[in-house]
Amino acid sequence: MKLSDNKATLSFSNGAPSMELPVYSGTLGPDVIDIRKLYGQTDMFTYDPGFLSTASCQSSITYIDGDKGELLYRGYPIEELAQKKDYLDVCYLILNGELPDAAQKADFDLQVNRHNMVHEQMHFFLRGFRRDAHPMAILTGLVGAMSAFYHDSTDITDPTHRHISAIRLIAKMPTMVAMAYKYTKGQPFIYPRNDLSYAGNFLRMMFATPCEDYEVNPVLERAMDRIFTLHADHEQNASTSTVRLCGSSGTNPFAAIAAGVACLWGPAHGGANEACLHMLEDLQANGGVAKVGEFMEKVKDRNSGVRLMGFGHRVYKNYDPRAKLMQETTKEVLAALGLENDPLFKLAMELERIALEDQYFVDRKLYPNVDFYSGIVQRAIGVPNELFTAIFALARTVGWIAQWNEMISDPEYKIGRPRQLYVGEGVRHIK
Ligand code: ACO
Repeated sequence: MKLSDNKATLSFSNGAPSMELPVYSGTLGPDVIDIRKLYGQTDMFTYDPGFLSTASCQSSITYIDGDKGELLYRGYPIEELAQKKDYLDVCYLILNGELPDAAQKADFDLQVNRHNMVHEQMHFFLRGFRRDAHPMAILTGLVGAMSAFYHDSTDITDPTHRHISAIRLIAKMPTMVAMAYKYTKGQPFIYPRNDLSYAGNFLRMMFATPCEDYEVNPVLERAMDRIFTLHADHEQNASTSTVRLCGSSGTNPFAAIAAGVACLWGPAHGGANEACLHMLEDLQANGGVAKVGEFMEKVKDRNSGVRLMGFGHRVYKNYDPRAKLMQETTKEVLAALGLENDPLFKLAMELERIALEDQYFVDRKLYPNVDFYSGIVQRAIGVPNELFTAIFALARTVGWIAQWNEMISDPEYKIGRPRQLYVGEGVRHIK
C-alpha cells in the first residue's frame, strides 16, 4: 500500500486535541484511513459492527467493484477466467499470483491428483455420523479432523507445510464432499480416479456406484468446473474473515478452514443457494408463476420476515457478474439435458424480471447474486439441495487457504482482537 498525500483530520467538539490520520491507497478501490494509533492517542475506539466501513487487512488476491459489478482474481476478470481457463488454473493463480504455463499446470494437476484420496481411517470417522446428518455438519467435522489425520503438515511457520496443507485441502475436498453424499444415500464411497478432470472426478465420485460406472457428460463437467471457478474467492467475506480471524491465533490451516466451513453454512452466506432452491420449490408447489406477485408483496413487507433469497449482496450494488455467467451455464445445462422448459428456471426468470423492474429492489440496488441460479444448475445435474453449500465450500477452499497464507506471510500480521463498546452494568458487588 502507498501513503497518500491526502490526510484525514479527526477533531472533537469537546475541545480534545485533533488528530491527523494517514491515508493509504491500494491499486484499485477506496483509500483507507489508518486508525491504528487512534486508541493510543485518543483513548477511543471506532465503532463499525458488520464491518461496513472497515478494511480488515491489505490483500492482493481478489478485487470487487460492487457498483460496476466487477470481480477480479489477481487482476483477471472473472468472465475471462470462467470462459478460458479451468478451475485448477484458477486455483494456481489464486495461490501463486500468476496463471500457470503448461509445465506448471501439468505439475500442479499431478500434485492435486496425488493427494486426492483421504486417509482410509477417515472413512470410519465419517461413519460415526448419523445417516441423516447435514453434509455441512459432516464437512465441518471432516475438515477439522484433517488436523488429526495430516498432523505432519501443521507447522505454520514452515512454507513447505503450508504448501502441502493447501494441496491436501484442495485435493481432498471433492472426495470428502462426495463421501458425505454417499454416506447419507447409504451407498459405498467411490475412490477418485486420476485420469479424469477435477470436476469430472467429483461428478463420478458422486454418481458412480461399484455396479455402474458414471460416464462424465462434458457439458455437466464444464458447468461444475464453472461453479467451482465462480466461487473460488470473494475477498473479505464472512467465511474468509472467519478463516483469517481463526488462523490469526496461529492455529493450523485445517482448523481455520473448518471454521470457514461452519461460517459459510449460514443462510445469509453460502447457505443461500439451498435456501433459494427451497424458496423456488415452495413457490412452485403453491401456485408457481401465477403467485409471484403475491410472493413479492410479502418480500417487500418488512414485517413478513420473507426475503427473496439469491437477491442482494453486501458489496454488489449492481448485477453480480457471477450471476450472469451462472445464468448462461443454467441455459447450457438445461438444454444438454432436454430440460429447457424446467418450471423452476422459468419461475426464477420471472422473479428476476419482476424484481429488476420493481421500485423496492431498484431503490435498494438489489440484484441477483450467484446463488440465484447455481441451485437450478446443480439440481439439474442431480445434486440434492442439502449438498449445495458443501460444494460452495469445496470451491471456496482455495480462496480461504490463499487468504490464510497471505495473512501468515504478512509482516504486519497480528492476532485479530476487536474491541467493543461496553453497555452492560457498571461495577457492582454481591450483597
Ligand atoms: N429480499 C428482500 N429485501 C432485501 C433483500 C432480499 N433478498 N436483501 C436486502 N433487502 C433489503 C433489506 O430489507 C433492507 O431494506 P430496508 O432498507 O428497507 O431495511 C435493504 O434491502 C438492505 O438490506 P441489508 O440486509 O441491510 O443489506 P446487507 O448488505 O446487510 O445484506 C445480504 C446483504 C445478507 C446478502 C442480503 O441481501 C440478503 O439477506 N440476501 C438474501 C440472502 C442471499 O442471497 N445471500 C447470498 C449472499 S451471496 C453469497 O454469499 C455467495
